[in-house]
Amino acid sequence: MRIIESVSEMQQQADLWRRESRRIALVPTMGYFHEGHLALMRAIRDHADILVISIFVNPAQFGPGEDFERYPRNLERDLGLARGVGVDAAFVPTTGEIYPEGYQTFVEVKGITQTLCGKSRPNFFRGVTTVVSKLFNIVKPHVAIFGEKDFQQLMTIRRMVGDLNMDIQILGHPTVREADGLAMSSRNAYLTSDQRFKALRLSRSLKEAQDLLDRGERRSDAILSRVREVLAEDGDVRIDYAELRDPHSFEEVPEVTGPTLLALAVFVGVARLIDNCILHLSS
Ligand code: PAJ
Repeated sequence: MRIIESVSEMQQQADLWRRESRRIALVPTMGYFHEGHLALMRAIRDHADILVISIFVNPAQFGPGEDFERYPRNLERDLGLARGVGVDAAFVPTTGEIYPEGYQTFVEVKGITQTLCGKSRPNFFRGVTTVVSKLFNIVKPHVAIFGEKDFQQLMTIRRMVGDLNMDIQILGHPTVREADGLAMSSRNAYLTSDQRFKALRLSRSLKEAQDLLDRGERRSDAILSRVREVLAEDGDVRIDYAELRDPHSFEEVPEVTGPTLLALAVFVGVARLIDNCILHLSS
């Protein structure tokens, strides 16, 4: 596995692969790998000849007072895990390599980024779309993959790629969960064992919502009040948002009449955890 730190070296290597008609896949990450990251790598392997990952904790997507400094990092371990799943190259730039002195260009998707996570974290999606655009220009992938755990992020990337005519196929991957239902996340490392137990309420509330729907309840108010009840059960969990939305427009829906996004963001201790599912009407 090649480890590449410089933008120009990565671009030259990508040009070489492209000249040899090799199809390049990219998995952008911020590192501190768990099974979710590794599942993305395994899933995209079959769609390309060359598998590239990037590891970069992107300062542009963190707000003031957020966890950029304490975001968990372990490069050596990550590189070992990447080697294990057959990654061909890891792009691991420094902050200065991506945002050199005098940097002043940003990519912004409007509309769907103004709500949910975009509301609580105003510069988050602008940081994500900027760095992902740069990674696309540096690694020059034919195909890239993103997890549905960050559903709004996945839809924002799809929108950016469509709107800017980027010639890159975007794949989504279902959320990978621990055996007890907790969505895997690098931020789970912030949780004490007691908090980790409380964090199970996210996945439990998603399940309860689908159960309610299966029993015939379609009103968003009723479903969301049950979700909030499960989340807030005995304190220590602060709800940032719990919303039912159209999965394409992200508009609120008064009633579930088709596939509907149930999206959650919750603080457990210092950790801000997100989870979501698509609710389906039983036929
Ligand atoms: P990061 O949180 O490291 O996630 C990297 C990729 O792994 C994202 O596409 C994310 O959706 C996916 N992922 C994380 N947890 C997952 C899980 N439990 N199941 C399935 N997929 C999961 O998301 C980012 O980094 C950054 O915003 C990035 C896109 C790299 C831009 O900086």
